[in-house]
Amino acid sequence: MHKIAPSILSADFGNLQRDIEMINASDADWFHVDVMDGVFVPNISFGFPVMKALQKHAQKPLDVHLMIVQPERYFQEFKDAGAEVLTIHYEASTHLHRSIHAIKDLGMKAGVALNPHTPVSLLEDTLADIDLVILMSVNPGFGGQKFIQNTYKKVQQLKALREKVGSDTLIEIDGGVSTSNAAELVKTGADVLVAGNAVFASGDPKATIQQLKQSS
Ligand code: DX5
Ligand code: ZN
Repeated sequence: MHKIAPSILSADFGNLQRDIEMINASDADWFHVDVMDGVFVPNISFGFPVMKALQKHAQKPLDVHLMIVQPERYFQEFKDAGAEVLTIHYEASTHLHRSIHAIKDLGMKAGVALNPHTPVSLLEDTLADIDLVILMSVNPGFGGQKFIQNTYKKVQQLKALREKVGSDTLIEIDGGVSTSNAAELVKTGADVLVAGNAVFASGDPKATIQQLKQSS
């Protein structure tokens, strides 16, 4: 069954504990945690102090998505801040193979995110070592953007590549996911759906998470 990872980026930071507890009590599988540095993406989100607060209250794994340059400088700190899955961007990594193994050596699952313009085929030589691939279905930086339709094709390509190399890498979709495209994404091959705006802007976030979980 596919996993749901609500994105904390869209939570109410004035009521963070309340929103974390809502996710704890929901059908969600993971917390999706977007870290932005204002350099790799045109926005700054939050860093270690907020992550420590999350770590204190979250009862589900933290799926940390780094949208920062030189992510390898901080792997140990993210491990200490509670990351179970740590994803770096292909476009921000000069030595991707080394970074994937450094993340795994610290005991975390290693993820690689691809921007909408980055071809799936570039992962041919590393996919067997990668635990999770995030296919960005918006340009990273902000919640609440429109889903890019070309993502479906990339899910199919990634599924094919996964078969070719014989790996069990999870396919995660990030950006513009809602109750109207979740079923189609799962049918196409998504294993994890991230949802920020769709969850937190809805009248009943917990019910929306349940709906996303039941989409197939
Ligand atoms: C975008 C982030 C996403 C974002 C998704 O840069 O990586 O995780 O929070 O938000 P929605 O679901 O609102 O598109
Ligand atoms: Zn994200």
